[in-house]
Amino acid sequence: MDTSDTSLASSPDGSAKDALFDAATGHSRRRTFAIISHPDAGKTTLTEKLLLESGAIRLAGQVKERGERRRTRSDWMEIEQKRGISISSSVMTFEYNGLILNLLDTPGHADFSEDTYRTLTAVDSAIMVIDAAKGIEAQTRKLFEVCRLRDIPIITFVNKIDREGRDPLEILDEIIEALALDVAPLTWPLGMGTDFKGIVSVSGDGPVAMTTNARSRKEFDSLDDFMMGSGHLEDRVLGPAIEALEIARSSLPSFDLKSYREGHMTPVVFGSAMREVGVRDLLDAICAFAPPPLPQPAEPKPIEPAASEVSGFVLKIQANMDPNHRDRVAFVRLTSGVFKRGMKLKNVRTGKDMKIAAPMFFFAREREVIEEAVAGDIVGIPNHGTLSVGDTLTEGSDISVTGIPSFAPELIRRVRLPDTMKTKQLARALSDLAEEGVTQVFRPMIGSAWLVGVVGALQLDVLTSRLDVEYNVPVALESAGFETARWVAADDPADLTRFIESNRGAMALDRSERPVFLARNSWELSYAQKTYPAIHFLTTRNRG
Ligand code: G4P
Repeated sequence: MDTSDTSLASSPDGSAKDALFDAATGHSRRRTFAIISHPDAGKTTLTEKLLLESGAIRLAGQVKERGERRRTRSDWMEIEQKRGISISSSVMTFEYNGLILNLLDTPGHADFSEDTYRTLTAVDSAIMVIDAAKGIEAQTRKLFEVCRLRDIPIITFVNKIDREGRDPLEILDEIIEALALDVAPLTWPLGMGTDFKGIVSVSGDGPVAMTTNARSRKEFDSLDDFMMGSGHLEDRVLGPAIEALEIARSSLPSFDLKSYREGHMTPVVFGSAMREVGVRDLLDAICAFAPPPLPQPAEPKPIEPAASEVSGFVLKIQANMDPNHRDRVAFVRLTSGVFKRGMKLKNVRTGKDMKIAAPMFFFAREREVIEEAVAGDIVGIPNHGTLSVGDTLTEGSDISVTGIPSFAPELIRRVRLPDTMKTKQLARALSDLAEEGVTQVFRPMIGSAWLVGVVGALQLDVLTSRLDVEYNVPVALESAGFETARWVAADDPADLTRFIESNRGAMALDRSERPVFLARNSWELSYAQKTYPAIHFLTTRNRG
């Protein structure tokens, strides 16, 4: 695709891009979304192809080569292919059709992680990638359930139709049955595997396109025109594909924007990320249907994206992105206002102001300091530990974003430090990693060893290996004798004090000094719940 007509691609000096960011109503041009999938379904390939199709990879080249001779797209692609595009950032911003798309990466491993959950609290919509041969797999279903909690609208991409896969009607049935969603196909596969002939766009009454590969796109005046096209019905591959399409059209509802936006219907793009088939259809669907930034749940009241005061919240901290510098970047989702570089923002948790001198955007593999950003944008803020996951930033108001929970840990371990000379480094490292949300850290009221708590076993491996590699503090994790934990609260503070005094041996404080009850097993927990009816035993706590 030639993207030379798009504003970003045609402005190596960034002037047209600035115009997009300048607009006070710029947030209505933002689409902030994540891709959810089971490992191997093709998320990485699709991400790369979305960036290529939109011209963003070339854009990244321009950012890097600023002031130098502009490369042609094919030069750049060749270099990318040789190197293999490795996308290391948690967020990628790119432009397509006059919209700014912010794509948030969800960690790919199979363990449920808090990180994934928090990423999904910072998007307005999601793309669900399904392997055409495997259908809906375990991790997809889990992530889908998280999206459903917030009724996040979902566009489905059925990938790998260039290989032998399931019958398209069967795949649609599975989505309907397993996820209780209505489906509305936007493209239809024309044969699969060795018979693969591409896709045809099928939504709406206007012209349709048949796409065979990245370079071949043939237009027809209407879908009927395509179906009746000379020899199509008699064709060994197209004939049966058209018949199946007829069945789909007569049995499925047509696309309904309201139903999609409310999370009841998913438009479905059949495609092949690898062959760049359906990728443009997917981008077009995101631009046409995905919602702009939505109001953000907050206390005392939700934040409207059009509100003039700048606000945002930290969804993720990524440390040591650049191994040469010990850097630490907080990813902040802006929720309102027009943010400008150099602004002072208040961290509502600490009450302290911080000047944001070098806010960043992430373009494919590049990062660039930016001058302005609006609601929906994800801004990287370098900092040295002043920001934690869940923090709200404002120009002064005491608003707190809600719905970014910590989860009660399901695995609790005691940290054993073989080298006692490193006690201080350990405290520092644990505090850093807790701010990042890698682990939760508890200080028992009796005893001195730190306890760490995580939701998935993989987090423990990440924790020990990062302590060793990044902080040079090797530790051993051993059983702490506790299986579960609950934050405790009570309407009457005297009840809480009494509970804590009677259970000191099982009490700890989290890093915000909130009391946590540790139970040896579920029986002990339910015994405590029965014995102390005035105490609330909480499985999640809003951060902050
Ligand atoms: P993930 O991020 O969801 O884990 O998936 P990823 O994109 O890494 O893709 C997993 C495998 O599926 C890769 O093959 C990739 O090339 C292949 N793949 C992705 N999209 C398509 C598609 O549309 N059609 C076909 N036929 N294959 C696709 P691999 O053998 O693991 O790696 P590679 O050697 O191809 O890079």
